[in-house]
Amino acid sequence: MTTLGTPLSPSATRVMLLGSGELGKEVLIALQRLGVETIAVDRYDNAPGQQVAHHAHTIAMSDPQALRALIEREKPMLVVPEIEAIATPELQALEAEGVVRVIPTARAARLTMDREGIRRLAAETLGLPTSPYQFCDSLAELQAAIDGGIGYPCIVKPVMSSSGKGQSKIDGPADVQKAWDYAMAGGRVSHGRVIVEGFIDFDYEITLLTVRAMGAGGQVQTHFCEPIGHIQVSGDYVESWQPHPMSPAALAEAQRIAKAVTDDLGMGLDGTPSGMGLFGVELFVKGDKVWFSEVSPRPHDTGMVTMITQWQSEFELHARAILGLPVDTTLKTPGASAVIYGGVDAQGIVFEGVEQALAVPGTDLRLFGKPESFTKRRMGVALARDGDVEKAREKAREAASRVKPGWAAG
Ligand SMILES: Nc1ncnc2c1ncn2[C@@H]1O[C@H](COP(=O)(O)OP(=O)(O)O)[C@@H](O)[C@H]1O
Ligand SMILES: [Mg+2]
Repeated sequence: MTTLGTPLSPSATRVMLLGSGELGKEVLIALQRLGVETIAVDRYDNAPGQQVAHHAHTIAMSDPQALRALIEREKPMLVVPEIEAIATPELQALEAEGVVRVIPTARAARLTMDREGIRRLAAETLGLPTSPYQFCDSLAELQAAIDGGIGYPCIVKPVMSSSGKGQSKIDGPADVQKAWDYAMAGGRVSHGRVIVEGFIDFDYEITLLTVRAMGAGGQVQTHFCEPIGHIQVSGDYVESWQPHPMSPAALAEAQRIAKAVTDDLGMGLDGTPSGMGLFGVELFVKGDKVWFSEVSPRPHDTGMVTMITQWQSEFELHARAILGLPVDTTLKTPGASAVIYGGVDAQGIVFEGVEQALAVPGTDLRLFGKPESFTKRRMGVALARDGDVEKAREKAREAASRVKPGWAAG
């Protein structure tokens, strides 16, 4: 049974977000609407989520001592990771000591912290279909893996990276050195481990938002949102839409894979299926065949579209699920999202064209409030609804293109 308290009082239900970017900000807002006292943590000041939380802290979340000290001081009921770059072994220790509950579980945070834990779990432990892959620690090993069976084309990614950083496609022998060097420059930490994956020539890719939430009978139940289609450019999402049409066979297979992965990640240290929350399961689809790609044990960037398409957005679903409350994944309307990039490297930028953007019928906008813009940094997102998902995509693109980020005048 869930009892919620009053924020800033001794009865408060306190939740800490580790990572407070645009996704964390929406989770924090959803929690606040339920009267939860929120603590936003990030590695830089004035992160989007810190601007809407009751408390804000800036620490290096990859530093185990700093992380432990903050959690022991704040004593939140739940710790909700929003990013991968966290000292997850320390979270596991804190969970094992009973200091805190990690969402969905500390084990899931640890397994998805790099590409290796989750890929080996999905392919080798659970036997799910994935691209052929190998892990390599040197250029020579990479070449050997390609020659030994991965073949061309293939994709190289640093084991520790996200949003396409350091990731590139290799079409033939001439690209191998370049891909290796690019991966070494783009990884989150400097140890040079990469995954090389055979290239999957998919028809389309989806995110299947999957929610583990408490059901009426006191048992955890798995709920699926409608599939979200998306386009990635250089490994980063630029557009998403929902629903993406799928054959019944492909949808059933996608749900089977998503359930298998989330069932496993929902297993706590004690072996009970206690882990709850929303997951973004990334899948490649060709005809009726489906491959598992990766999973976020938290809201997914492509799922921002649900802020306009679902009765409960992925953020509201996550907030409810982690508090042990019932969820509803029903679609409200087809719709789409389109990313707004910074376009400039500057602090405190301004956005022109917002009224023109919102003049596109059936659209909405989120500007994240990030203190610093980079050319390729995601600064906002345009949302659009339309009975026809293709029209919704056009509207979202149009609205996004009308927003003009730029230098502040004066
Ligand atoms: N093996 C693959 N075959 C074809 N495309 C791929 C493959 N791996 C990744 N991609 C493309 O690159 C995108 C980003 O890769 P992903 O592994 O999801 O990295 P990230 O963790 O940075 O999101 C995917 O959404 C897909 O479009
Ligand atoms: Mg991805």
